[in-house]
Amino acid sequence: MNIAIFGASGATGALLTERCLFVGYNVTTLLRTPEKFPLRDRVHVIQGSPFDLAFVRPTIEGADVVLSALGANSLKKEDVLERAVPQIVAAMQQTASQPKPVRRIIVLGSAGALPTSLDKQPAWRRWLVQNILYNTLLRWPVASQISQWNDLSHSNLDWTMVMPPMLTNGPAHGSCRIDGEALPRNGSRISRADVADFMMRQIDNPQWIKKGVYISW
Ligand SMILES: NC(=O)c1ccc[n+]([C@@H]2O[C@H](COP(=O)([O-])OP(=O)(O)OC[C@H]3O[C@@H](n4cnc5c(N)ncnc54)[C@H](OP(=O)(O)O)[C@@H]3O)[C@@H](O)[C@H]2O)c1
Repeated sequence: MNIAIFGASGATGALLTERCLFVGYNVTTLLRTPEKFPLRDRVHVIQGSPFDLAFVRPTIEGADVVLSALGANSLKKEDVLERAVPQIVAAMQQTASQPKPVRRIIVLGSAGALPTSLDKQPAWRRWLVQNILYNTLLRWPVASQISQWNDLSHSNLDWTMVMPPMLTNGPAHGSCRIDGEALPRNGSRISRADVADFMMRQIDNPQWIKKGVYISW
């Protein structure tokens, strides 16, 4: 299996890369600074920016599945997903006429991407998360995730957007609640390790194709 990974140098991206290598997949990553990436010798590295189609195109070339754990390095307005996801979608769509088009993409999103995400929360929690987090503190990351959702859902790709609440760095629990409609009730966190495991399971699972899926402890 050939896997292209965007955001491999990030906290979740590194876990995805480790898991892909562990099961014997060939990994191609697009990195800004390969020298900082500890797994660089075990993957095929393309150096460049995900904002530039010239680098994105060779990264996805020949991939069976594309994974992305891209995201801004701060809570400020960085527009990482706004600039990268359209390039990834365009590069994949340009393979449509090839004998083996690159159609499958699984991305790390966020529970804040859709207005219905809090529908299963108690009223007090819905108010708190919407007003204190999504509308205020996480305003720019949420805007980026809405943009990512729009780019994917308007594409004809086989996309899946995995939408967790707050990410932690602890170990995997080995299980999580999964919901196609909204964040599970009182779901407030999940480890990056469990997110990476869930994303890996989607590589050969058609259930969430062309859908978002909420996961939470
Ligand atoms: N933190 C949370 O609690 C939380 C909750 C739900 C969803 N999420 C979402 O999860 C995603 C990933 O989270 P994470 O903590 O695993 O990520 P992270 O450690 O911050 O990694 C971000 C990745 O994106 C890349 N990146 C950042 N800015 C870039 C730029 N300007 N150009 C090119 N690449 C850039 C980084 O590359 P470099 O190494 O080159 O910087 C890195 O590979 C984010 O989209 C976030 O919105 C986060």
